[in-house]
Amino acid sequence: MRVLSGIQPTGNLHLGNYLGAIRNWVWMQDDMDSDSQCFFFLADMHSITVHEGREARIRNVRDMAAALVAAGIDPDRSVLFNQARVPAHAELCWLLNGTARIGWLNRMTQFKDKVGKDREGASIGLFVYPVLQAADILLYNATHVPVGEDQKQHLELARDIATKFNTDFDVDLFTMPAPIIPKESARIMSLRDGSAKMSKSDPSDLSRINLTDDDDAIMQKVKKAKTDPEPLPETAEGLAGRPEANNLVGIFATLTGRTPDAVCADFAGKGFGAFKPALGDVLVETLRPIRERFLALRTDDAALDAILNKGAARAAAAAEPTLRAAYDAMGLMR
Ligand code: ADP
Ligand code: TRP
Repeated sequence: MRVLSGIQPTGNLHLGNYLGAIRNWVWMQDDMDSDSQCFFFLADMHSITVHEGREARIRNVRDMAAALVAAGIDPDRSVLFNQARVPAHAELCWLLNGTARIGWLNRMTQFKDKVGKDREGASIGLFVYPVLQAADILLYNATHVPVGEDQKQHLELARDIATKFNTDFDVDLFTMPAPIIPKESARIMSLRDGSAKMSKSDPSDLSRINLTDDDDAIMQKVKKAKTDPEPLPETAEGLAGRPEANNLVGIFATLTGRTPDAVCADFAGKGFGAFKPALGDVLVETLRPIRERFLALRTDDAALDAILNKGAARAAAAAEPTLRAAYDAMGLMR
């Protein structure tokens, strides 16, 4: 098994990122047997599709690296790096640009969603984003790619590119990657609006629990979270039509590894006055050790950069044979 996944280092990490993505990576890493390997990287080359100043970009890469390590990614067991330190990603992307078709990219729903009506004003980078993603995956012959539902189409594109390249150049070079989409993938909603995703871009800080929030801030945000006046129902069925209640019960269930039904059974008939302090406690206990490790790691830029440098060297070595074979298959002399 070769597991690989990437995340854009775009700052302001929150509970949704942790429960929806990072925690799954840690589980996959912890489940690996000795002949398997995990590659986790910060997609900073992808992040150029979002305008950001130099300082913010540097900070965001270190923040995300620290968050991953704090959450349990072990840089000795997994290969942890940022894309920009491994030029093979950009190189293979360019080679694959000869294989990917405009028609295929035109069908990508994430591109359509991101550009909205201003297609002409969108960057070329945003358009070929999925080709770079295919390069990320194919470089390492990844077999399993843990991602959210929204990335399924990009994985299919990576398979299409791999198949066409292998056929066009009559080689058996690229491995077909499969997406790993968690079954009940935790989708955490805003604390202020149960129908909107918890997101770093929500203008209200009360809408999300940040990975850097201290115990008091977490408790306050849970206390102020929007709810309804009804008590908690006996089963999760009774949460239908109550998006805020459903979200809070879902967060409690996800954090404690129980089902929403079991959580409802425990709190049936009780109001949010009883439920919220319990939820706050679970959140505080889960996030405190992660935050403490994160803050400690963030005091030492050199140590973080050393982790990323070491990861990049391992990644570059793993990528080299595939990159060399791709140049060779195309008759390009390096
Ligand atoms: P944001 O929505 O805050 O801009 P990103 O789009 O940068 O977050 O997402 C980074 C990762 O975190 C992705 O893998 C995404 O699926 C996951 N993620 C982001 N928000 C949530 C959420 N509210 N619930 C679950 N997963 C989320
Ligand atoms: N596009 C992914 C996202 O937005 C991030 C990503 C970049 C990625 N390269 C990847 C995910 C390779 C998996 C594999 O979430």
